[in-house]
Order: sequence, then C-alpha cells, then structure tokens
Amino acid sequence: MSLTMEKLSSLCKKRGFISQSGKLYGGLNGCWDYGHLGVELKQNIKNYWWKKHIRQTDKFHIEQDDLMLGFDGSILTHQKVLKASGHTENFNDIMRDCKDCKARFRVDESKSCPKCKSDNLSEPKAFNLMFKTQVGAIQNEENSEFSYLRPETAQSIFSAYGQIFGTGNIKLPFGVGQIGKAFRNEINPRHYIFRSREFEQMEIEYFCHPEESDEILDKMRDSRLRFYEEIGIPKEKLHILDVPEKERAHYSKKTYDIEYDFPFGRKELEGIAHRGDYDLKQHSLASGKNLEYFDEKTGWKGLPHIIEPSAGVDRILLALLCEAYREEKIENNEKEEIRTYLAFNPKIAPIKIACLPLLKKNANQCEIAKKICQELREKNISSAYYENGAIGKRYRRSDEIGIPYCLTIDFETLGEGENPKDKDTITLRHRDTMKQERIPIEKIGEKILSLIT
Ligand code: GAP
Repeated sequence: MSLTMEKLSSLCKKRGFISQSGKLYGGLNGCWDYGHLGVELKQNIKNYWWKKHIRQTDKFHIEQDDLMLGFDGSILTHQKVLKASGHTENFNDIMRDCKDCKARFRVDESKSCPKCKSDNLSEPKAFNLMFKTQVGAIQNEENSEFSYLRPETAQSIFSAYGQIFGTGNIKLPFGVGQIGKAFRNEINPRHYIFRSREFEQMEIEYFCHPEESDEILDKMRDSRLRFYEEIGIPKEKLHILDVPEKERAHYSKKTYDIEYDFPFGRKELEGIAHRGDYDLKQHSLASGKNLEYFDEKTGWKGLPHIIEPSAGVDRILLALLCEAYREEKIENNEKEEIRTYLAFNPKIAPIKIACLPLLKKNANQCEIAKKICQELREKNISSAYYENGAIGKRYRRSDEIGIPYCLTIDFETLGEGENPKDKDTITLRHRDTMKQERIPIEKIGEKILSLIT
C-alpha cells in the first residue's frame, strides 16, 4: 500500500478531520479547518506535550531542579519586537519567478521551474514571510500603526522576559512553554498540512547558564525524541539532523532537527535550537532594559542562554495520520474487501470508544449502551454512541476514524442469549486485531482507562 496525500486528505475530508478553509468560495491556499475529529486529535497532542513538559510528568528531561511555566502571548506582535529580533530583516525565503509560466518558488526547492521545468528564471529575491496588519483605525502607514501576526510564538516570551522574571523567586535554569498559532506567508504551501500559512507551534524557551547550555540542548533532543515514540511514531522513522551552519536560522548557534519519514520524503517535524543569548541581547539593546541575570550563589552576572525545542502541531498530526493509515484485505461474507483504518495509539486517538447496541430496534440494548457511554464521558473518556446501520458497518466506520475499542450490548448482555452466565457482560472489540472479548459491565471504566493511558 502506498499512501499519498490525496488519499489521506480525502479520508480526512470525508470523516471530518480536516478540510480546506474557505472552500465554499474556492478555498484559501495554505489554510485549514479542523473538524471535530481533527480538533480532538490536535487537543490530545497538545495536552500530552503540556503534561509532559510544562506540568512535568517527565522529570527526566533535564536532570536539574528546574521550573517550567506556561505562557499564552498575543498573536498581534509589536513591530519593534520583530525588528529587534531580526525578523523584519532576516525572516526571508529566497525565491525566483518563472518568466514563462509566472510560477513563484523557493530556490531551495528546485533549480528549474517546478511547474513547467523552464530555466528562464528571474534573479533570486528575498521575500519576507511575515503578515503585516493594520492596528486601529488609522490607515496611514507613516503613522506606524501596524503590527505583525507572529511568525513564531517565541518572541512573545522573550519580550515578556522581564515580567515573567519579575513574578518572583525565579532562578536559572527555568523554562517557559507556549502553544499557539503562528503565521507565515509561505511562497508555496504544500504537502497537505505540512507547510501552511497558518499553523500551530508548541515551543519551550529554556533559560540557562551558558556553561550548561550544550548539555541541556542534548537532553532536550533526547526528551523530545521520547515524546514522539510515546505518541506512536516508531524510532526507525525518526532522524536527527545536525543542521549545517549555513542552513540555520539567523539566531541559532546550533540546531538539531527531528525529521520523520513522510510518504513524500524525510522532512522536519521540529527544530531544537541553541539560540545563545541572541534574543535577550537584541531586546536588551533595542529596549534599553538590562536583562542580565545575577547569580547570588556564584556571583555570575550575564545574559542567560536559551535552548528552544519548537514543534509544529499540524506536522505532528500529519505524521500521526500517515503512521496510522492502514489498508488490509479481509473476508466479509466470503467476499474479499479492503478494510481501511487508522491505527492511532489509544493515548492520542480522538475518540477512545464506540458504544453500540447490537440492534437499534432493541430499546433495552440502546438504553444500556447510552448509559455506559454517558458514564465513560463522565470519566473524561471521549466516547461515541452509534446505533444506525448494521453492526459490521458501524465497526468499519469506527475503524476508519481510528476508534481503538468498540463495546457492544447484545442479547447475552440482557440475559436473553445462549449463555446465561454472560448476563451483564459486553463484548469489547479491538480495532487492530478485530478480536473480541467479554467483560463485565462494572469493569468497563477501569479496563478502558488502563488501555488508553
Ligand atoms: N521558534 C523557532 C521556530 O519557529 P522553525 O524551525 O521555523 O523554528 C518550528 O519552526 C516548527 O514549526 C517547524 O519544525 C515546523 O514543525 C513548524 N512549522 C514551521 N513552519 C511551518 C509551516 N509553514 N507550516 C506548518 N508548520 C510549520
């Protein structure tokens, strides 16, 4: 089975994971809407990241007494912040125009025109990727009343560094984490949601003593690799690239990229950058505020260094979809058919369980299935109730949207079947193996929780 982005995007559209934004009017290129299943999946990725790194269930990532704080900065960014950070000047892609077919493309993507293969090209030009927007009612740019949609979440943390630090009792090392939207006017949005104009980032800005920074960079890299494995991306498909100097961002002293083998090639999921003291120095110079740290214990005074793991939520979601997509031949009523399913790790699956009466017309089965569904929801387990269609069809549909477990209320549950001892039990079906087991109703909550955490 070879997975293409057309195949994946068609399933995601049909089942309400993702669709193009503004489709009613022809679509807005590089912008995506996430439907119910897409947003549940996204939420699970973000919650897992937040739990692991900000609430620190993973104490192990930096073996020091560190403090992790959450942050949610504004998307509209003061123009001076992005001037000081170097984005106004340096946040560019080098692009060329094709003089024959008028296509515009990134120089690093192709040597000739990717659309018509012509070599009749313009000279390379720098193209700033930031979206500029008007703030307030004044239309005149000379009044400088414009700002930018942030191109990375990071800068809001750096520009608020003084306030965060001032909240008291903060010592190095400490980290500030943020999840939020970022915007880049990409020349060529491509590979489905891989490169978009509006996307979400999960970033940590970890402030530390310069001497410890190299070691922390490596620990962050290892911790972030574990994250990917824990949510269901196998080690063999993850790769670390030590990014060569000339390809690094303007602020970076060293960068590791975590790459994944997408069906369209090996591509970046996340960058882990050593930003040195670049950002604090720039903001200190531009604002005239002293952002130095004084260590009372050692007497050291200076600007902390910053280690930054920066992951794209949409790219992780795409990797999870690619990883989960399965097609297999199965026998159904002596006919061969293709079963398509999404083998999500139960931890991040958008819906954990489907509760099904065997027959819609059996009111007792429906009532019990609805009651169990409600009880599971109250335990914060995302559960669906489906009654329409034959049971086999409902299993297939649940498989296709990646629900790892289905529970069915049948005649045995009601004590009306062939085995009276099966009264008050249900069948639990496992998506990947399609195997079924009977379990007592009162054990369901406990059993499901043990399977999904
Ligand atoms: N603060 C550092 C920073 O923004 P980056 O390598 O430019 O670094 C970090 O971006 C991550 O954000 C990338 O690894 C990727 O996952 C995601 N990302 C960047 N541009 C993207 C785009 N146009 N569409 C989707 N995700 C993107």
